[in-house]
Amino acid sequence: MFSKITIGKGQSKYDVIIGEGLCTKANFQKFVTKDQKILLLSDRNIPRKKIATIKKNLKSLGAKVYDYEIPPGEKSKSFNNFEKIHNFLSTNAFLRSDAILACGGGVVGDLAGFVASTYMRGINYIQIPTSLLAQVDSSVGGKTAINLKSGKNLVGAFYNPKGVLIDTEFLESLGAREFKSGLAEIIKHALIDNRNFAKYLLKYSKEILNRDSGHLNKIITRSIKIKAKIVTKDEKEQGIRAFLNFGHTVGHALEHYFGSKLMHGEAVAYGMAYEAKMSLEMLKLKKDDFQLIQELLEKFEFNKQLKVSFNELKPFIKIDKKNTSNLVNLVQLKAIGECKIVAIKNINSLKKFFN
Ligand SMILES: NC(=O)c1ccc[n+]([C@@H]2O[C@H](COP(=O)([O-])OP(=O)(O)OC[C@H]3O[C@@H](n4cnc5c(N)ncnc54)[C@H](O)[C@@H]3O)[C@@H](O)[C@H]2O)c1
Ligand SMILES: [Zn+2]
Repeated sequence: MFSKITIGKGQSKYDVIIGEGLCTKANFQKFVTKDQKILLLSDRNIPRKKIATIKKNLKSLGAKVYDYEIPPGEKSKSFNNFEKIHNFLSTNAFLRSDAILACGGGVVGDLAGFVASTYMRGINYIQIPTSLLAQVDSSVGGKTAINLKSGKNLVGAFYNPKGVLIDTEFLESLGAREFKSGLAEIIKHALIDNRNFAKYLLKYSKEILNRDSGHLNKIITRSIKIKAKIVTKDEKEQGIRAFLNFGHTVGHALEHYFGSKLMHGEAVAYGMAYEAKMSLEMLKLKKDDFQLIQELLEKFEFNKQLKVSFNELKPFIKIDKKNTSNLVNLVQLKAIGECKIVAIKNINSLKKFFN
């Protein structure tokens, strides 16, 4: 059993296939040709057994597979690795007809995608996202990037892959915090698009936290459909794509402040709690919806009291990428499934939400 979602427009359209155990020869056939060189990019945390299966199946289709491992973690999204991989491709005489296959979390995917977008002005790439966050978020939508010392994702490109294979078997080996970090983005997709989906997450929270594969397949598919709908309408973030940033203005500020103590999805979950409070007052978010958001975050255990004040977060809220001139642009909810961008003139007016 698998589901298929098509994303994008025209030439850059691609399919996302979701199911258990998808790394089969049949699924690779569409992307691989005989004698094609394939750079298989991953990190050491990705289960070796799965990598071995992928390699075996690619080779049986006549491809020449080149392994490339990067150290796990955000630091790997660097210029240094970007350059090293380019040199590796060039030394091994990769041509534009060859390909990169990213098998890993968002770090591997973002780096591989950016290399693919620039090597010889663009080489094919395929994504096999292995973390829940990468499966429901970073592998969908064509954003690729590396980091600068001064900030994350500051250098990158919009570049769609040829295809995305979401094999939910990878989730079995994922750490508990990494798993929950991905759940936060799924909750976000439900809150910006669909109350019934939010209710479903609440009802089956226990099964989902226990990684029941039936429920996981359902919520991953539903989540990707929401992101797919948005990024297909607004590929380059000129309008509604910004709604995907619900929870992220405060979330990014928390991430900056707490550093590696807080994972991205965790920061977004707490960010959504703050931004829901703001929506309650500024957009008259319905009380029932507000309560549903609170229950949902609690059920998924995002209800710790964070030790941080408004004044400590303020400098980071000020530098959010969505801001324009002197305005802080916040994504807020009028209702679950209905977003609006609210421009805040006086940042200090947000202070009361942090008490
Ligand atoms: N391109 C986009 O649109 C987009 C969207 C959201 C996030 N991102 C980026 O994604 C990155 C975060 O993604 P992430 O949370 O996947 O980070 P990650 O790639 O660092 O993965 C998290 C951890 O899980 C490990 N891991 C991954 N899959 C595993 C598996 N199956 N079994 C065991 N361990 C596994 C990794 O080695 C790593 O230690 C950030 O760099 C962020 O900027 C990009
Ligand atoms: Zn996010």
